[in-house]
Amino acid sequence: MPTEGGKTMNKESTSTGSSAEKYPSVFRKLTIGGVSLPNRIIFPAFQVNYANTDGTVSEKLLDFFIGIAKGGCGLIFTGAAVVSPVCCL
Ligand SMILES: Cc1cc2nc3c(=O)[nH]c(=O)nc-3n(C[C@H](O)[C@H](O)[C@H](O)COP(=O)(O)O)c2cc1C
Repeated sequence: MPTEGGKTMNKESTSTGSSAEKYPSVFRKLTIGGVSLPNRIIFPAFQVNYANTDGTVSEKLLDFFIGIAKGGCGLIFTGAAVVSPVCCL
């Protein structure tokens, strides 16, 4: 793990502090109605073209959003994808 001035740094750390120290509001919990978010980092609806050709949800699309969630995003809006048998893109 990299060190600076004898201080161990993780990937969030910089010589001037962690992201949470620099931007505390972004990392504050938020409750809207009955939904609680761990932070205020939001991924907007964004079509990445990873759905199947008929618009249905693919493994690649799921993997993409799992990666975004594991990265710590507090709320994810998915982009265009078909989630109903009576719907199409
Ligand atoms: C490349 C691109 C793809 C987008 N895909 C979607 C989408 O699939 N579904 C949707 O509702 N909005 C989509 N949007 C709209 C964004 O979620 C957002 O509402 C829009 O960019 C306005 O946000 P802004 O004012 O912060 O730029 C897309 C925007 C961009 C630039």
